[in-house]
Amino acid sequence: MSFINKLPIIALSPMDGITDEAFRLLQVQIAKPDLMFTEFVSAEGISHGGVKLYDTLLFSNQEHPIIGQLFGKNPDSFYKSAIILSELGFDGIDINMGCPAKTVTQNGSGAALISKPDLAVEIIKKTKQGINDWFENKIKITDLGLNQKTLNVINRNKKYSEINISPFVKGRCPEGTERIRPTISVKTRLGIDKSIIDSWATILLAQDLDFLTIHARTLKQGYAGTADWSEIQNVVELAKNTNTKILGNGDIESKSQALEFCEKYGVDGVLIGRAACGNPWCFKDYIATPKERFSAMLLHAQFFKEVFPNRRFDSLRKNFLFYASGLVNAKQLRSKLVRLNSIEDLLQLEGDFLS
Ligand SMILES: Cc1cc2nc3c(=O)[nH]c(=O)nc-3n(C[C@H](O)[C@H](O)[C@H](O)COP(=O)(O)O)c2cc1C
Repeated sequence: MSFINKLPIIALSPMDGITDEAFRLLQVQIAKPDLMFTEFVSAEGISHGGVKLYDTLLFSNQEHPIIGQLFGKNPDSFYKSAIILSELGFDGIDINMGCPAKTVTQNGSGAALISKPDLAVEIIKKTKQGINDWFENKIKITDLGLNQKTLNVINRNKKYSEINISPFVKGRCPEGTERIRPTISVKTRLGIDKSIIDSWATILLAQDLDFLTIHARTLKQGYAGTADWSEIQNVVELAKNTNTKILGNGDIESKSQALEFCEKYGVDGVLIGRAACGNPWCFKDYIATPKERFSAMLLHAQFFKEVFPNRRFDSLRKNFLFYASGLVNAKQLRSKLVRLNSIEDLLQLEGDFLS
């Protein structure tokens, strides 16, 4: 049975700069969500040979079901990227129509697509076409005009995920069974400066998406104020006679709260974002001890070094700061965490802090 039919779905929300492969490996070890997403990645970038971006698309076999999330504004890039992500073995492809960052919206991508519904629909159609053409074997990855460097990095990712898609998905489907058709979905917001969710969701629901995630804030709100879940409930009503599942998002802190909101608002699932930063235990309603938090930081750092051996250790510090939240002496601990340069430093700090 496809993951999309096992309800409710309590998922890890995509977070750029946070939910990378190291983060997700740790998340799986501690409390595996029903579904996870990659950080968003540029459709234009990956379809035009941006090989470094393929690090964002690394995932291990134990992470299924996993969705690759794309942002961009060029329908042809989405077509190519959909074929690439299908080949990489993703269980689904999600289109970002909700990012409020100026660097993304000024370029006409992310939440800016809410004000360009025709383009948004064209992007969905092209993504679907890419998935279908790949699924029906009408097009191969080698037909996309990608350079050799890109084809090599695609093979590297497939090897990392232990996936051999051609002709069958090894490890996921017994040999001789059919390919898995990735799901198609959109993650969006209520509107630009005010909610237009009824008309916007009506347009999206007409595209026969597998699921639609609503973050119940407008673009203008960014992350301020509170998410208006009554607006999500409206979308649930609109979706009643469609095949599209509705996932709600915004301000959920724990698995129990997520389940409560599924009941209360009738959604098929919930995405948890910021509450999972430094708190992977939120997916099993557990409060970790200081010792457990240090062990998680250590494991996080080890995964990071294994997966990204060439990245600087200090890029992990922002993740570590989250683990300190709520601890006694958190302020003192934070001032030390922002100076860590190695796993050895972290071990030393653990010894000092817990003794
Ligand atoms: C640092 C950060 C990065 C984010 N990156 C993405 C992203 O790449 N794609 C996306 O769809 N949403 C992104 N989001 C939005 C979250 O997925 C989520 O919709 C939002 O944080 C609201 O959910 P929450 O209240 O559970 O955090 C990001 C949010 C944060 C805080």
